[in-house]
Parts: sequence; C-alpha cells; structure tokens
Amino acid sequence: MAIFLGYAAATMVAVFCITHFFHRRLCCRHPLFTDYPILGMLPHLLRNMWRFQDFVTEVLKQHGGTGEFTGPWFTSMNYLVTIDPLNVHHVMSKSFHNYVKGPVFRDIFQAFGDGIFTADSETWKFNRDLFHSLFKQKSFEVFLEKTIHNKVQNSLLPVLDHVYQQGSVVDLQDVFNRFTFDNICSIVLGNDPNCLSVDFPEVEIEKAFNEAEETIFHRHVVPRCVWKLQKWLKIGQEKKMAEACIVLDEFIYSCIASKREDLSRYEENETGETFHVDLLTNLMREGKGKGEGEAHEDIFLRDAVFNLFVAGRDTLTSALTWFFWLVATNPLVEAKILEEMNEKFGSNEKTVLSAEEVKKLVYLHGAMCESLRLFPPIPFERKQALKADVLPSGHEVNPSTVILFCLYSMGRYEEIWGKDSMEFKPERWISEKRGNVYVPSYKFIAFNAGPRTCLGKDSSFVQMKMVATAILHKYHVEVVEGCIAKPNLSIVLLMKDGLKVKLTKRET
Ligand code: HEM
Repeated sequence: MAIFLGYAAATMVAVFCITHFFHRRLCCRHPLFTDYPILGMLPHLLRNMWRFQDFVTEVLKQHGGTGEFTGPWFTSMNYLVTIDPLNVHHVMSKSFHNYVKGPVFRDIFQAFGDGIFTADSETWKFNRDLFHSLFKQKSFEVFLEKTIHNKVQNSLLPVLDHVYQQGSVVDLQDVFNRFTFDNICSIVLGNDPNCLSVDFPEVEIEKAFNEAEETIFHRHVVPRCVWKLQKWLKIGQEKKMAEACIVLDEFIYSCIASKREDLSRYEENETGETFHVDLLTNLMREGKGKGEGEAHEDIFLRDAVFNLFVAGRDTLTSALTWFFWLVATNPLVEAKILEEMNEKFGSNEKTVLSAEEVKKLVYLHGAMCESLRLFPPIPFERKQALKADVLPSGHEVNPSTVILFCLYSMGRYEEIWGKDSMEFKPERWISEKRGNVYVPSYKFIAFNAGPRTCLGKDSSFVQMKMVATAILHKYHVEVVEGCIAKPNLSIVLLMKDGLKVKLTKRET
C-alpha cells in the first residue's frame, strides 16, 4: 500500500511538473535564454554574472531589443526586459498613469521608505512638487554653486595637489565619493563632514550606503523567497543590509534632531545667516509631514534625506569616475576639451569656473553626454502595469509583469546610436552650428524620461563641468597599468575596483 501511494504521489508530481513546464513554455513566448526545469533562466544569468551588464546587452541585441526572463519555478521573478525606445516612451510618458513602481518595488527598496524614488501616485506627486519648488529657488541655486565652488577650491584641488606632490597613486572614484558625500551633506544637512581630506578618513555612512545599494541589486537577481528568508535569518547580504540600515537611520535621525535644536536656537535669537538654505532646514520650515506629530514628521524627513543622498551622491560619483576614465583613455578627446577651455577662457588663472562659464563649453557637454550614454549611473529602471497592456514592440504585459529597462544596454544599442554605438565620440553631440544636438529622453535615458525625469539633471551637468574643468586645467590624469574599469553589481554603476590614477601637472 505504502509503495502504491509512493508511486501515485511521484506520478502526480511528475505530471504536475511536466504540465507546469509546458505552461511556462506557452506563457513565455519571447525567452531571452534557455528556460531550465525548476531553475528557469537563473543558471544562465548567474553563469554570466561577472559580466552582467555586457551580457544583458548582447542578449537583448540578439533578441531585437525586448525579451522575457523567467526565474525559478514558483517564484515571482518574471521580467520583461527591454531597450526599445518606443517601449520606453510608451511606459514613461504616453501611458505614464498605467505604470507604477508598485508595492514589490517598495519592498525591495524598503530602505528608501516613502521617499520620491519609491513613491507612486499622490505620495510621489506631493514629493515631486515639494522638491521641484525647493530646487528651482534662486537662493538654492546660488547656495549650490557656492558649495561646489568652495569644495573644489578648498578640498578637491588641495587633496589632488597633495597626491601629486607625494607622487602617489590615488583612487579617483574614492576621491569623488568623498567629494560628493561632503557636498550632499552640505546641501541637504547644511553640515560638511570633511571626508575629503589628505588623510582619507574611514567613513562608516559611506560604506553603509554602498551595502544598502548592493543588497537592493542582489534582491533583483535572487528569488524573493530566498532574500526574505535571508532577511529573517539575518544572514548573508541581508545581514549587511540590516546593519547598514541601523547606521544610516542613526546618522539621519541624529542630523534631524540636531537640526531641530539649531533651528529652535536660531528662532530664539534670530541671528545666523547662512545655515538656513540647506534642504533639511527648508523641509522643516515648510512643515511638511508635520500634521501627525513629531515622530511622523521625523519619518518623512528621514525618507526625504535618504532619497536625496542616493540621488545626489553616487550618481555624480559614477558619472565623474566614468567620464575621467574615458577622457584619460582617449587623448584626442582630452586635447579637444582643453582646446575649447583655452579658446573660451584663455589660460585663465582662475582655478574654478562659475556655473555660467561652464555652460559655454559645448564640446565638454558633448563628452559628458557621451559618457552618460555609455555608463549611465543608474543602469536599470523598473516599472509595473496597473492594467494589462500591449507595448509598441507587440509584447503583452499584465499587472504581474515587471518591466525592466536596461539603460546601460540602451546606450549601446545600434538601432538608436548607429553602427559606432560602442565608440566614445563626443562629436555625435555637436551640431553643424557648433551647438549641442538634442536627443529625446526616451533614447538618451540616463536621467530618466517623462514626468519622472531627474530633478537634478541641470545642476548635475553644472557640478560635473566645474569639477572636470578644475581638474583638467591643472592635471593630466593617467590610469595606472593593471587598473581595469569593470562595472560593479549594484543599482548605481560604479567601478568595481575603483579608478587608480597618477597625476601629472600641466605646463601653463
Ligand atoms: C549624473 C547625475 C544624475 C543622474 C544620471 C541621475 C539620474 C536619475 C534617474 C535615472 C532618475 C530616475 C530614477 C527612478 O525613477 O528610478 C532620477 C530621479 C531623480 N533624481 Fe537624479 N540623477 C543624477 C543626479 C541627481 C542629483 C544631483 C539630484 C539632486 C540632489 C537628483 C535628484 C533626483 C530626484 C529628486 C529624482 C526623482 C524624480 C522622480 O521620481 O520624480 N538627481 N535621477
């Protein structure tokens, strides 16, 4: 009897598995790779994890720009992966209201709370309007420019001078990380921690942000049940995430508390002048999130600060690092950037150019767009449909489909950029009239497209150009032998092993 029951159970399992296997085959009509029984397409992906971005790019090109990825059986790892600009335009702009980040996104990006990056509908609109109104204030623009200017003049250049005098090798990515971290602290909190200094102090919060971002990437490539279990057991990458969140929360909440104290002191004696333009002060002044008491307001402020840190820190570090790597490995481009600087400003002794001045540099702008095309700091985006829909590429989506846009692969897609899509060619951004060529955001998607376009786009270009001109004016940057520029596995595209360089002073 027991043997018979055993056979019956085994037969039922076998029939169930075979049915499920064929059901998957029918449902997944545009597979990106081989769909193995039980493990789905995961083995193929994991085998190529070491070259994740390039592998995804190759596969998508072979499949006409769009295809499906299905993970292990009975997991929710079902992605429609696309680099088709018409799909981007449809989801990000034309049918914007039908596509959301969704609850699963918020679960994966839990550390972001209810901030602007994870929010949908009314919460997103509220955050968007709030940040938009803060960013567009003239006083904020002036404060931002002054902050960047001072940081370049008083920290970045002195640190690089020191490195040059010592004749040592420096990790430029680490330098930019510290630079952007100090800046974002000044801009958001009104307080510069001075991480960018010649002794390169260890920065715990910095590491915590990186851990959190790597964990979020990890949550995209392992089944939900696996990372949930890891989280519950507090092991592996999830253990690091839990520890990182404690560090980050302690840091942000203590900043909120001390800012509140500063403000009450300021209101008492009405003196101070400069510290009240930072974003946290502005958010507190606006009293947003206050309605339901101090604890509620603190959560709102914590989420706002966390989201601004991620928005304005790593993205700029990534953009600057890849830009300098491309310029250092393309001497002709470097020469043209210098020629333009010389043409516009002569051998100006001024070390840091102003926001207005850097806007005149057309070729530099082209070189930066080109770098962002090839190495978009946020390499992928994710959306889910509220109602079933058909994308312009003909692929059907329903509310359970996760749509992944691969920004890195889009930047290398011949259909958009032509046969030379893999080449670093700033000239493609320069028009015959020596202006910059406009490319719609659904093709050049580094800053996202549609109503959720990056709010820091213009200020990012200004900051990057101020940094780039200040460094290139003084130094020739040489990548040291053996330093391989390899993307990391995270939600922000940094260099896995940093960018190790040596500096040589330019003849003036
Ligand atoms: C090179 C630098 C930057 C790049 C490439 C970049 C790129 C992006 C991208 C791709 C998004 C969409 C993210 C998503 O929806 O998942 C985004 C959103 C956003 N960015 Fe940036 N960003 C940069 C710098 C900045 C800076 C410096 C700030 C300001 C501090 C900023 C503020 C924002 C905000 C507030 C959003 C949310 C917009 C929304 O959802 O409505 N970004 N950015």
